[in-house]
Amino acid sequence: MFRTHTCGELRLTDNGKEVTLSGWVQRIRDKGSLLWIDLRDRYGITQLMLEEGVSSDELLAQARQLGREYVIRVTGRVSERSSKNPQLPTGDIEVILSSIQLLNASKTPPFTIEDKTDGGDELRMKYRYLDLRRNPLRQNLALRHRLAMETRNYLDREGFFEIETPYLIKSTPEGARDFVVPSRMNPGEFYALPQSPQTFKQILMVAGYDRYFQIVRCFRDEDLRADRQPEFTQIDCEMSFVTQEDVLRTFEGMARFLFQKVKNIEVGPFERMDYATAMKLYGSDKPDLRFGMPFVEITDLVKDSGFGVFDQAELVVGIKAEGCSDFTRKQLDALTDFVRKPQIGAKGLVYVRYQADGSLKSSVDKFYNEERLRSWAQRFDARPGDLMLILSGPANATRKQLNELRLEMGNQLGLRDPQKFKPLWVTDFPLLEWDDETQRFYAMHHPFTSPKPEDIPLLETNPGQVRANAYDMVINGVEVGGGSIRIHDRELQKKMFGLLGFSDQEAQNQFGFLMNAFEYGAPPHGGIALGFDRLTALIAGYDSIRDFIAFPKNNAGRDMMIDSPSAIAPQQLDELALKIVQKLQ
Ligand code: AMO
Repeated sequence: MFRTHTCGELRLTDNGKEVTLSGWVQRIRDKGSLLWIDLRDRYGITQLMLEEGVSSDELLAQARQLGREYVIRVTGRVSERSSKNPQLPTGDIEVILSSIQLLNASKTPPFTIEDKTDGGDELRMKYRYLDLRRNPLRQNLALRHRLAMETRNYLDREGFFEIETPYLIKSTPEGARDFVVPSRMNPGEFYALPQSPQTFKQILMVAGYDRYFQIVRCFRDEDLRADRQPEFTQIDCEMSFVTQEDVLRTFEGMARFLFQKVKNIEVGPFERMDYATAMKLYGSDKPDLRFGMPFVEITDLVKDSGFGVFDQAELVVGIKAEGCSDFTRKQLDALTDFVRKPQIGAKGLVYVRYQADGSLKSSVDKFYNEERLRSWAQRFDARPGDLMLILSGPANATRKQLNELRLEMGNQLGLRDPQKFKPLWVTDFPLLEWDDETQRFYAMHHPFTSPKPEDIPLLETNPGQVRANAYDMVINGVEVGGGSIRIHDRELQKKMFGLLGFSDQEAQNQFGFLMNAFEYGAPPHGGIALGFDRLTALIAGYDSIRDFIAFPKNNAGRDMMIDSPSAIAPQQLDELALKIVQKLQ
């Protein structure tokens, strides 16, 4: 028998029991006459003890041969500790050893297996099996497991079927590049890995499976960031005979259920905001509503002052930082540097201090007297003690810049508590997005999203103004998920492909299967997909999803442990009818 108990299990009530434990040596403390070993497994840590005179010399010698991460099996008697450790669930007891069996030795690990490790990111990824032994990662994966189980429970209860869709498919354009897989049996032809199961889940609706879900891997060859991996997991769902309201209600219910189950938090009903309002008030389609600081527009109040920057600006807009009028010059300069960073791209920052004594001081005093500044303060609903931070320029770009500044202020003022959750539905996204570079429209969500019925006439006259029945679930400024009501009519779908620049032939080649399916009784349908990695990280209070994935890739898309991607043998290339023309080093 390898173990009678796990390393996280024994308590004072087990005092006196003979037990056998197996695990990894976390730490050895040798005080000469006394020797302690911390033994670790997935469940916790138990202290083992040996004492000169009590334990045999042989056993002590054996213990002294052990090293970190050795795998051992031990037998001994549970005993109350003289100095207890309240930090550990097993901290009231120790096991006085009678035997040690070495199951396997270990090389010295390249970093410490502690909650706070000394290992850098790349090293930890290369030795992921060691990193995964650490508590924080174990807790992350435990949370992920719990969330997956509860998701299945909820959706099963709501009548959803979990159905698998293929991984070797044909490309579905969803904005990112596809990963492709050459087909040996069809030389010169390629499968694509799914960016999502979008078309398959719609086809399942045509097939009559009116509530589908899948916890499914998706693949996107896009630039990576903290919240993006080339392969990631979605909770993908689709429903038939539903309105947008039904979808929102079902998945708001699911999110609230998950928070309740795994965090014991009641997040309350989700706020709702349409896209246009979100952009106007927060400059973002995923506003973080843990704090206020909505945008205030003062374009009409600043003209004709001789201050060219404002005079020429399409939009002059700011935020009010309550109680920050005493920000020092240095702090304000740092904020100016922040908005001027190339990634943000503002030209400068104007500030107005509403000082405690009621006077107003600004960085543009030369152009605006106190009376005019007071009219701004009124618009901001500012009070003595507040600070106004103002940007100007082209409307869209300026809103984006102010969004960054607002988030930065939220960080600086400690308003973005990771343990506080503010969920929101953003609705009524535009259907199409114009791209200046390629001079064409792109689908903002994907080409299968339905326009709002009342906006359909605009498709002919002003496509850019058409709103979609599309929605995002946003929590704390993170886009957790997105979905839409779909087009289920062949003609409308054809028109949509036309607007997106597909010729009839191209549309038929790429999506003939879907349009054909639409000719056999497609029900009205809609759905959503939640980013499962993002949801898990968010619930745990983290921005980065990497440590919520057992085997993630680095920012260059490499798996450091298995060293992939890698070259393949010439024979494999031949079989696949592929030729490497040039390898860039
Ligand atoms: P969308 O493209 O918005 O919608 O994706 C849904 C959610 O998936 C997550 N996500 C990612 N997570 C980690 N790494 C990535 N590279 C990544 N890309 C996306 C996000 C996002 O909100 N088929 C549609 C859904 C639908 O219409 O039903 C789709 O895939 O949290």
